[in-house]
Amino acid sequence: MKIIGTGSALPRKEVTNDDLSAFLDTSDEWIFPRTGIRSRHVISDERLEDLGAVAAQKALSDAGLKPEDIDLFLCSNVVNEYMTPGLGCIISSKVGLTCPSIDINCACPGFIYAMDIADSYFQAGKVENVLVVCAEEPTRMTSWQDRSTCVLFGDGAGAAVFTRGDGLKAVKLNAEPAPDKIWQYRALEPTPYVTKAETSVPLQMNGRDVFRFAVTTSIRDINGILAASGLTLEDVDYFMIHQANMRIVEGIRTRLGVPAEKFPCNIQDHGNSSSASCPILLDECNRKGMFKKGDKLIFSAFGAGLMSGVALLEW
Ligand code: COA
Repeated sequence: MKIIGTGSALPRKEVTNDDLSAFLDTSDEWIFPRTGIRSRHVISDERLEDLGAVAAQKALSDAGLKPEDIDLFLCSNVVNEYMTPGLGCIISSKVGLTCPSIDINCACPGFIYAMDIADSYFQAGKVENVLVVCAEEPTRMTSWQDRSTCVLFGDGAGAAVFTRGDGLKAVKLNAEPAPDKIWQYRALEPTPYVTKAETSVPLQMNGRDVFRFAVTTSIRDINGILAASGLTLEDVDYFMIHQANMRIVEGIRTRLGVPAEKFPCNIQDHGNSSSASCPILLDECNRKGMFKKGDKLIFSAFGAGLMSGVALLEW
């Protein structure tokens, strides 16, 4: 399969580090050197499904396809206001899709998990065109009194349209189950039978363990997919790394010994938008005209689970 269209959409409201320090004991001097983030787009009066629909429409238009051309819609999302139906169904109704949609909740590597699923459908000969939308609002998961988490995240949606072709060279998913490293708990509706105590808990994260996992896993994933494909780091034109934190991205880049121009970054004014980060970065680079035919792109993402994924794609 190959990518023939990309799109993205961001909330209107931009919140700078200085904006945060107006109500939180934090500062640009603390946040920027540790994360590379100066501002982030934050959902206010928008709805996530509208951002997802705009990203989808832009990707369809970039691909020159209509909603009815899509045979499968994969929607990556961790949290949104609906428990049911899946966010994919809601975005489908806004975009005019009529194909089946599957929601996946694979946190930050969701775009790569979606690519792996799409690839299986293509290989089975079941589809001609697949739409992937990653729509995330992690700023609704954190406590805005918790300076160790809320400063890290931003919201948004990214999309890509895939068609038959020889673009995806390899994709590999990994999981090292450790649900206590990043988690959020939502209390469900009470029943007469549930006697255990249940309360909602905002996002909790062991930042240092996640940092370590992200850097070591991404390096292992990238070296692994290159070795399996008979390629070297020099053969890769762009490393599209999940935009979690500039120090993570830089840790990966410097340990691999790759020049900075091969590591596009937008964390500075986006923050970590979970699974939306890779397709938003992809769309921004695509619209700048950075990619030329034959360029080799590696996607690497990691996050809650703990899960990771890596993909090698030729443009
Ligand atoms: N502003 C000011 N001070 C802050 C702060 C903030 N936003 N957040 C935390 N602090 C304080 C802490 O309270 C602590 O103070 P103390 O020493 O008085 O207790 C101090 O800074 C150090 O906190 P710590 O959590 O140890 O900082 P750190 O150096 O590990 O950096 C992260 C924290 C979150 C930036 C870092 O762990 C990280 O980047 N982790 C990866 C997170 C991530 O990307 N997750 C998503 C992956 S998909």
